[in-house]
Amino acid sequence: MATKESIARKLVSAITRGKAPAKKQAKARADQATPLLKARRAGKEATPAMLQKAAKDNLFLHFTRHSPYQKSDIPIITKAEGHHFWDINGKKYFDGISSLFAVNVGHGRERLAEAAAKQMKKLDYFPIWSHTHAPAIELAERILSYAPKNLSRVFFTTGGGEANETAWKLAKQYFKMNGKPMKHKVLTRAVAYHGTSHGALSLTGIPSMKKMFEPLVPSTFRVPNTNWYRAQDDFKNEEEFAMWAADRVEEMILFEDPDTVAAFFIEPVQNSGGCFTSPPSYFKRVREICDKYDVLLVADETIDGFGRIGTMFASERYGLEPDMLVCAKGITSAYQPLGALMLTEKLFEPFKHGTNIFAHGYTFAAHPVACAVALENLDIFDEEDLVGNVARNEAAFKKTLEKLKDLPIVGDVRGAGYFYAIELVRDKDTRETFNDKESEKLLRQFLSHDLYDNGLYCRSDDRGDPVVQLAPPLTIGQKEFDELEQTLRNSLSKAGKMFELM
Ligand SMILES: Cc1ncc(COP(=O)(O)O)c(C=O)c1O
Repeated sequence: MATKESIARKLVSAITRGKAPAKKQAKARADQATPLLKARRAGKEATPAMLQKAAKDNLFLHFTRHSPYQKSDIPIITKAEGHHFWDINGKKYFDGISSLFAVNVGHGRERLAEAAAKQMKKLDYFPIWSHTHAPAIELAERILSYAPKNLSRVFFTTGGGEANETAWKLAKQYFKMNGKPMKHKVLTRAVAYHGTSHGALSLTGIPSMKKMFEPLVPSTFRVPNTNWYRAQDDFKNEEEFAMWAADRVEEMILFEDPDTVAAFFIEPVQNSGGCFTSPPSYFKRVREICDKYDVLLVADETIDGFGRIGTMFASERYGLEPDMLVCAKGITSAYQPLGALMLTEKLFEPFKHGTNIFAHGYTFAAHPVACAVALENLDIFDEEDLVGNVARNEAAFKKTLEKLKDLPIVGDVRGAGYFYAIELVRDKDTRETFNDKESEKLLRQFLSHDLYDNGLYCRSDDRGDPVVQLAPPLTIGQKEFDELEQTLRNSLSKAGKMFELM
């Protein structure tokens, strides 16, 4: 009887004597090939059915409920142009959220593809670890030229979460090197999203998103955001409410002990919860508080940066001078993955001396192809005056969206630039919101599907209260605002009827 050992011996000797002829092996490999691989080898396009099956069999999608895809198809997107994209069935959609708050110059810009190809042919890749390359040098100088003037150094990453992670680590090391080793805690705002790695998720102020990953990095503390729509009625005006919110920052620093607090992270316009803006006085006050207690102020402009708010960086619009500024997404209009942390010379100073080093970095940060694409992307911004386009049109965008306020379900329309949220309520007069079950029915079972079926891709979200969010490419104007308003009106009217709102 053949033992395991004898079978193994036979196999080894067959291999070493080259018993299995190469042709046979190749045929066996070809027979094993998946339908997608067979199509690729034959130079044929995969069919929609083949792609759908392989997607369902192999992919683990981000932030996605997979169970519905046992019955329905996963949307497969095949092409995009301007502010539109198409799915595999040929259906056209309005990209109302720049895909993920990112495709600021719009889709299908050939010159960005050409810039990538040109760079790849010249220098495909080299890390910025003790070396550098022209695209990174030029891009660092370029983005600093748009940033608040106190910022003078760039640490590249591959996205926003990594840049937030970097900012926190840098803050900790900076204080250790400056005789304040206990300063390590950070404050962030309620409901704010700052990324998904352990550090960035710890900064995030959305408990439901963190629950499954606890325990996270300790030492992060939440202060109120500036949700004026949900503010208590005893504030005379938004300004007074914003001062109250800023004072909570001071209170938390004092409570935790200023000797232990390293940084405060804010988005000038907070995405999560639905585009919370603040008056410039809020930023002035938090800047004063941070200065008073030697706490670094970090502006997370992952979404707000690159024209979204009508200035190149939102910090400019609100007169904010942060110690560090995080940006990503619009830096390449998402044609390549890239992020950056800009910082003051004061924070870089310790690293100019002796053997000091910031032991932190990423393989793909400042990838030369991403930097080359970013530079070309910023050329488009300049040539087409996209930031000016937002500044000139933002009042019209706001006015068009505010028409929706005549619907019983629309409680608030808020935001700035080309970044707006529409908050949905059960009762306009009392501002009563939907409970969890209703919100599930409203957003996930109805609205996101209905909008999508009607050709509008936007964000329906209830990380705070239920909102629909818009962040379209910076290229659009009144014609497209009207189109957005009409589609939203159609779906929101149906949603109101579902809940019998009058
Ligand atoms: C404000 C903010 N910070 C950080 C992030 C994380 O960025 P990334 O997904 O590039 O890591 C996001 C992503 O949307 C964001 O909106």
